[in-house]
Amino acid sequence: MCGIIGIIGTRDVAGHIVEGLKRLEYRGYDSAGVATLVDGRIERRRAEGKLVNLETRLREQPLPGVIGIGHTRWATHGVPNETNAHPHATDRVAVVHNGIIENYSALRTYLKQKGVSFTSDTDTETIAHLIALHYKDNLEAAVRAALQDVQGTYGIVAVCAKEPGTLVAARNGSPLIIGVGRDEYVIASDAAAILEHTSQVIYMEDNEIARITADGFRTTTLDAVPVTKDVEEVEWTLDQIELGGHEYFMEKEIFEQPKVLETCLRGRLDLRDHCIHLGGIVDCARELVRAQRVVLTGCGTAWHAALVGEYLLEDLARIPAETDYASEFRYRNPIIDAGTVVIVVSQSGETSDTLAALQEAKQRGAMVLGVVNVVGSSIARETDHGIYLHVGPETGVASTKAFTGQVTVLTLLTLYLARRRHMSQRSMNNYVTALGRIPGQIDAILEQNASVRTIAERYMDQNNWLYLGRGYNYPVALEGALKLKEISYIHAEGLPAAEMKHGPIALIHEGMPVVFIATKGTQYGKIISNVEEVRSRGGHVIAVATEGDRDIAELAEHVIYVPDTLEPLQPLLTTIPLQLLAFHAAVARGCNVDKPRNLAKSVTVE
Ligand code: G6P
Repeated sequence: MCGIIGIIGTRDVAGHIVEGLKRLEYRGYDSAGVATLVDGRIERRRAEGKLVNLETRLREQPLPGVIGIGHTRWATHGVPNETNAHPHATDRVAVVHNGIIENYSALRTYLKQKGVSFTSDTDTETIAHLIALHYKDNLEAAVRAALQDVQGTYGIVAVCAKEPGTLVAARNGSPLIIGVGRDEYVIASDAAAILEHTSQVIYMEDNEIARITADGFRTTTLDAVPVTKDVEEVEWTLDQIELGGHEYFMEKEIFEQPKVLETCLRGRLDLRDHCIHLGGIVDCARELVRAQRVVLTGCGTAWHAALVGEYLLEDLARIPAETDYASEFRYRNPIIDAGTVVIVVSQSGETSDTLAALQEAKQRGAMVLGVVNVVGSSIARETDHGIYLHVGPETGVASTKAFTGQVTVLTLLTLYLARRRHMSQRSMNNYVTALGRIPGQIDAILEQNASVRTIAERYMDQNNWLYLGRGYNYPVALEGALKLKEISYIHAEGLPAAEMKHGPIALIHEGMPVVFIATKGTQYGKIISNVEEVRSRGGHVIAVATEGDRDIAELAEHVIYVPDTLEPLQPLLTTIPLQLLAFHAAVARGCNVDKPRNLAKSVTVE
């Protein structure tokens, strides 16, 4: 989704702003722009489409200036073209904005009555005019006054032609981080754009305004109450957000899963004493152990991981659990009582619906636990307690390592609670040992990359695929289908295998690829019957099966083997071949897997 960067320093900033915007490209965008202050004037360069267009524009008409703001826009109000691209500006004020101004239509009418004429269709332009209207001699005061009239969500950074040494930023519902460099300050919506400059950051909170000059910064609330902020160290490094020899981030992130899951397990999975340590829940462990019900919530891939969590919590910890889409939970008047714990699952920690679900749960008195990857993100900060994934930055739009990280964390949590509730030490020993083997087992699956590619290439022209799984592998089927559709644009549906008979079986035709997750477990016999049903209708079966299962090779057209593990841990393995299958099908179809059409990495608007 939209990306923001602002820099104030001692050298020309336009080039550095574009470099920062490139770091935010993965979030998805359709136009981009930069504004700097030059000789007391605001100068802008904007372009539709990719950043290379903006770079061309900047080569033709270079932009000097030691203070500037830049933006990658993902259209909400108005088509993606140059006039709608940010920064939006008046003669005096330029602004970049993430979020949505809900009362923008009323503001437009009001501003038009004041004689303002608009040049774009965006909600953001109203902010620029409002600030200009309120401006007397102090940009910070003008921003503060303008925001009193604004309803909605925003992260904004503004500059003013009359104050060539000042950046003013404000946040309400859309993240902003201030990077404290040696001779410069960098403000951005995502730490990825800051890392090249510094690892020292300040996280802005909602309803805060920051005034940044070359000499320092000060933060206040929207009501002008001073706020003291701590400078924190970002835990990510620059090389973690680079491709490291891979062609795509998605590919890199699939292949780094063994390594990052080891990091996720480190210090938590105690292989010597066969127990689990989770620092993020020590203060609420008693309450968690006594929970009468758990509601898990999230969006997209995180929702699929939450569904695995539901199965784990009920099966192993024997706590009633249910999973809800964050977008539904927030509006459906959910029943939350004192014994309910809400677990919020999110890679970015910024997804708007998930954040709203969290707030809804808190308002209703629930204890809320976060399972989040991005340290310091909004969800991480607003939850009462949490467990970070520690899988490093995820840049690929199609989530891969975050899914396995989320499932790993939910497994650790479940085992911790199960042991505290009733699980025998003997069972615990088995689970801990099996979980410790998972990273190595994923490595073994990744070695089959070439044969998975062959399967993907064979079926890449088929426009309808089914993914079927049962029990723990039902969420994996959903996730496998989502991966395929989001990056290869092939229509795919994931289902609990038994549901196939209640309708979707009508779709099966000669040559249709049907992916079965058919590993050994309690429902193996049942899923084999489903395989037979598909075969007899001419479907081509691609089976993910347990190593050594020769019987399935008689039935399936293709078999991808995964090592044996305990059934509740299977999703951590069975999802890997499906990530590879989707990746190779998309590449074979010529799709840019890191920039899938219409998709954003982090959906920060509703
Ligand atoms: C977007 C992404 C998905 C992701 C979902 C939730 O739709 O494209 O890959 O699963 O948001 O994101 P989160 O950051 O909350 O996990």
